[in-house]
Amino acid sequence: MIYNPADDTFFIADAIINYHGNYALEIGIGSGYLTGILCKNYKFVFGTDIDFASVKYSNKHSLKKFNNKFLICCNICEPIKYMFDIIISNPPYLPQDIENVQDDTIYGGNTGAEITLKILQLFKSHLKDKGKIIFVKSSLSDNNKINQFVEINQLKKKILSKKKYFYETLEICEITKKHN
Ligand SMILES: C[S@@+](CC[C@H](N)C(=O)[O-])C[C@H]1O[C@@H](n2cnc3c(N)ncnc32)[C@H](O)[C@@H]1O
Repeated sequence: MIYNPADDTFFIADAIINYHGNYALEIGIGSGYLTGILCKNYKFVFGTDIDFASVKYSNKHSLKKFNNKFLICCNICEPIKYMFDIIISNPPYLPQDIENVQDDTIYGGNTGAEITLKILQLFKSHLKDKGKIIFVKSSLSDNNKINQFVEINQLKKKILSKKKYFYETLEICEITKKHN
């Protein structure tokens, strides 16, 4: 299922619009809206999604005009072996629905934080020393797990922006390696 750009998409878009550099990666491109912003500001942009329809749509439509993009249908970014200046994601962050309805666009595992944690793991293997991971975090996911991960791995977390919506509070978080 292709995720249509929504409040969370536009919220993280505002935060990344002025970032520039060489190598960027988006995990979970959906309609390609955010990847398009990266394509304007970065030399080489990789985008992944577990949903083939999203990759196909983005390639044929929203990202058609960009020739600095590399789109792959995969889990997180398994086939990509590269270190990036920036990794962004608006991951699925809701705790799995009790009726177990499968929807990869919104449900991020039992606590809602599982996909986010997999993305944060990339700091070891896919993030340059001075790189950053920017992601959407919701008050509806288990934020203790995310905070513990940051602490255990001695990462730096900065909240770039925070907004209260009717049913949740969203934060745009930036993770960097501590020595920077
Ligand atoms: C909330 S949507 C965001 C889509 C788009 N980036 C946006 O902001 O409008 C989350 C996206 O992550 C994708 N996704 C979910 N699990 C994934 C995984 N394990 N690996 C890669 N993509 C995944 C979904 O298919 C969906 O397109």
